[in-house]
Amino acid sequence: MQTIRYGGDYNPEQWPEEIWHEDVRLMREAGVNLVSLGIFNWGIIEPAPGEYDWTGLDRIMGLLHENGIGVDLGTPTAAPPSWLRRAHPEIRLVDFEGRVLASGSRHGVCPSHPVYNEACASIVEQLAARYGKHPAVQMWHLHNEYGWANVDCYCEVSAAAFRGWLAEKYGDVDRLNDAWGTAFWGLVYRDFDQVEAPSLAPPGVNPALRLDWKRFSNDAHIANYKMQRAIIARHSEAPATTNFMVPNCKDMDYFRWSDTVDIVSNNHYLVAERDEHEIELSMSADLTRAVAGGPWMVMEHSTSAVNWQPRNIAKTPGEMRRNSLAHVARGADGLMFFQWRASRAGAEKFHSAMLPHGGTDTDVWRDVVALGGDLERLSSVVGSDVAADVAILWDWESWWALELEWRPSVDLEFRERVEAYYTSLWKQHVTVDFAHPESDLGRYKAVVAPSSYLLTATAAKHLHGYVESGGHLLVSYFSGIVDEHDAVHPGEHASVLRETLGLWVEEFHPVHEGTRLALDAAAESRWRSGPVSGRIWSEHVRLDGAEAVAAFTDGPDAGRPAVTRHRVGAGTAWYVATALDDATGLRGLLAEVLDAAGVERPTGLPDRLEVVRRGPFRFLINHTDQEQFVPDLRGADALTGVAYDRGVPVPAGAVVVLAHAGS
Ligand code: GAL
Repeated sequence: MQTIRYGGDYNPEQWPEEIWHEDVRLMREAGVNLVSLGIFNWGIIEPAPGEYDWTGLDRIMGLLHENGIGVDLGTPTAAPPSWLRRAHPEIRLVDFEGRVLASGSRHGVCPSHPVYNEACASIVEQLAARYGKHPAVQMWHLHNEYGWANVDCYCEVSAAAFRGWLAEKYGDVDRLNDAWGTAFWGLVYRDFDQVEAPSLAPPGVNPALRLDWKRFSNDAHIANYKMQRAIIARHSEAPATTNFMVPNCKDMDYFRWSDTVDIVSNNHYLVAERDEHEIELSMSADLTRAVAGGPWMVMEHSTSAVNWQPRNIAKTPGEMRRNSLAHVARGADGLMFFQWRASRAGAEKFHSAMLPHGGTDTDVWRDVVALGGDLERLSSVVGSDVAADVAILWDWESWWALELEWRPSVDLEFRERVEAYYTSLWKQHVTVDFAHPESDLGRYKAVVAPSSYLLTATAAKHLHGYVESGGHLLVSYFSGIVDEHDAVHPGEHASVLRETLGLWVEEFHPVHEGTRLALDAAAESRWRSGPVSGRIWSEHVRLDGAEAVAAFTDGPDAGRPAVTRHRVGAGTAWYVATALDDATGLRGLLAEVLDAAGVERPTGLPDRLEVVRRGPFRFLINHTDQEQFVPDLRGADALTGVAYDRGVPVPAGAVVVLAHAGS
């Protein structure tokens, strides 16, 4: 990709043809160079089984091409046509509680059902054969949001596919019994045929069954993708993608997906009612970059409000631009919206668009046109890397496992801890990469493991090697507890990390809701961010080589270590036995770890002044409502051409992108 791809979902089938001409003219005015077409048009292009109507699609493809606008051609399999559901009611999705989903919307079918998969194969074959060599097609957009409303299906076909998946994975049912620990409650299976899908059941369902079910369901969607991809490959050389939902889809393990797509693309919508929601956006972008292993593209975000949150708060002036450029700063080489033109009818008519109901005399439209210009000026960013010295560990499987039933506390949440650490680093202007615990960590000065409950022995060994060879690792509580089947690692708690952390855990002591656990004065004087206290968790840490850096002064573990440090080889491993937050000690602790690790970062800036370095640029994004001044920087703003010699002012809510920045 030479230019930043700019555009959105385009649904011309919702409009009469004369509007298409206006669309294309306005797309050119806004600098749109790519649109996603045909994502939900199965019911239009195949009006009856085996009958095809290509008239509209042929025309619009031609029109776009004549106007120099590329097409990201969708396969419409996320919206099975009414005739298919009617003729084959057996493909309808059966949910966790055994209810069969009706039609009238999209998705809602069993991802493992052969009838559905055959129908998908057939429409994809037709589409790819017809448009595989069409000059407008720049990429393929397979399906839409795998796992959105059909994560898993509990019908008998799906259950049978699950049994097949298990038989392939374990070979022998005794291996499954062993891995799943089915001696517990005598849940032992004598044959794979005895395994059922884990739908609504009495409490205490085997967690290993639930984990494999999640892996199976994820793989069922990957199989549909791969099937479609193989068909397309016979007709077209264009790259393919499907739009992910990082990090807001818990159910798809996108690390397992990353190798299947040619381009990683992501949909991200702000959680509009959340305070400082720009931080969650950054996290989404950073995690998408980890899945991609480099640059990626935004497949969907919104120009302003969405229509599906409890209160759909519109973006404030300048916010769409800040959001967009934050994605680019964090690795996006394409910036697409849902959707080009606001729909008149249907479920999404109150969703913002590039071209709103109010037309071109609107702030949104003016911002869309201006953004097109900004992106042209930033095209040299394409393909470049984001600079990050720190990694946060992320693992979907650990997320799944941590939040299964019957954990030591309902307050144990994967994202709660990841976001606490991410937020504190973000506010200290530290750009992070996310990384899988088994990935190569050698290039990071510091690695943070906020919530690594499920940690394989291999991953633990890997982390040990990282520290031994000079890395700085910070691990939060309730990490290294279970293996990939949710079985406690043999021996004491955190045994797989014992050598690394220089400690083990004798007993967990989760605390009452709202309880604050004070840490000693030594911690307070070191981390100087006001009172230092923990929440949620306390535990009996037994030192075995580590030194206590801070101790609890109250609660069940008063006088015992709360934060520890252990030197291993050339590196250091830190451990935190409670939930610290940015304002209650985490900022100071992280600063100490970052200093020890030699992580450079800007100082003296307000928290909400986002600073990210990518390729030739340094992005300065001011999320505050006051002008901010960044001293010690110089360079020219790639967006305005203005050159700064001694420090850079960033107006309230604005973005400056310094080219050839120096300090
Ligand atoms: C996405 C979906 C789009 C549209 C959008 C609205 O999840 O892929 O088709 O529905 O949400 O925000």
